[in-house]
Amino acid sequence: MINKNSTSLISSETNSIIKGEIEVPGDKSISHRALIFAALANGKSTISNLLEGEDVLRTASALQKMGVQINRNEDLSWQVNGSGIAGLIEPNDVLDMGNSGTAARLLMGLVTPFNFNSFFTGDESLRKRPMQRVFEPLTKIGAKIVSRQNNILPALLIGSSEPIPINYTMKVASAQVKSSILLAALNTAGTTIITEPEKCRDHTEIMMNFLGLEIKVDDIDISGKIGSKISYQSGQEFNANDFVIPGDISSAAFIIVAALIIPNSKVRINNVGVNPLRDGIIKTLKEMGGNIELKNQRLVAGEKVADLIVEYSKLKGIDIPSSRAPKMIDEYPILAIAAANAEGITTMNGVAELKVKESNRLGAIADGLQNCGIKIKIGEDSLEITGGFKQPKDLVRIKTHLDHRIAMSFLIMGLIIKNGVEIDDCNMINTSFPTFIEIFNKFGITFKKS
Ligand code: S3P
Repeated sequence: MINKNSTSLISSETNSIIKGEIEVPGDKSISHRALIFAALANGKSTISNLLEGEDVLRTASALQKMGVQINRNEDLSWQVNGSGIAGLIEPNDVLDMGNSGTAARLLMGLVTPFNFNSFFTGDESLRKRPMQRVFEPLTKIGAKIVSRQNNILPALLIGSSEPIPINYTMKVASAQVKSSILLAALNTAGTTIITEPEKCRDHTEIMMNFLGLEIKVDDIDISGKIGSKISYQSGQEFNANDFVIPGDISSAAFIIVAALIIPNSKVRINNVGVNPLRDGIIKTLKEMGGNIELKNQRLVAGEKVADLIVEYSKLKGIDIPSSRAPKMIDEYPILAIAAANAEGITTMNGVAELKVKESNRLGAIADGLQNCGIKIKIGEDSLEITGGFKQPKDLVRIKTHLDHRIAMSFLIMGLIIKNGVEIDDCNMINTSFPTFIEIFNKFGITFKKS
């Protein structure tokens, strides 16, 4: 774990290699959803391999404030005493969602059809992030929302006693928006229809199926792009279940790239979720020449899971189509590190959405790479990275802007920089990957306190 008192860490060239067999913690997206669905089930559910990162714990704490009993068992699984589909009560305190956009946006949908009031806020990063993308559909369903100017948190959401099912076409490829509407649909009489012109992660739909809820998903072709039309008719209830969370591919991506760029590395990462709408990073790294093998592919609660074997590889730059962005939206920071270590130019297209993540990630990646001496060209919706660099003469300083993925990506970049990289704040790593430092320690790699 990271020492809370020492937030800044230095990473520098290492003699150690990435080797052995590891697991990464549970998938963040699926963990949020498992808690929420378990909270709405009839009876006691067990969740194994729940991500115990701060983001997910914010969702747990919000649900507790709505009357749901949630406890951690001695065997590290979690028990959720479901309130039933319509059993939540008015939260008795402000719902502080910390750094988590997923927690904020999903829970706003969840409470929309409840006849009570909820106050949402978050940390400095979340209070800058756009919320209109959920305010708009949730208001159509019947929520009344009073937020700060420019549709940012804090916000008061007044739930509706007579919510209206909507027929909604998504404006951004966002699983958070889609899931927010689906969670509202659970308690909105009638049929809710969502059209997504471009498919994005479908963990909510998969979990609803797993729980026996009837949700209809049809592929649609919108000017050459495959999207989906989703319909859900409310009035369905479901029983408690055993939820098993696969390892998070977005966390595995850091280990994968570290193994690909540190000579002689070979690592096996067991039990990684490889949902086809999340596996863009594997496809992309393979196209770049990365030696990544998927073994033992299986289905766990409807989610595709595999063990990954990754070996050091000489990478080459490629052009990444914008159509791949929704399938790897969280992986661009670490992909940028792979690109910096590849031969030739890598172009990332369709990445404007990165500007509204935990930080302006497009800017943070570009600044960080430039500080490391890497040539980049930044566009409105693209980033071009020229691989290969001269060793910087001095310690490189990186600003993370409260963004866990920027912190982890540049800690990995530091592993091939002789004079090292100083990351200004590593506390945020706890939001998504609390065992990150511990796993690198197992490889014999330590990050020094500065
Ligand atoms: C998530 C969806 C993605 C992703 C985020 C988690 C989810 O966000 O970036 O980390 O769990 O639904 P968007 O919905 O904004 O694309």
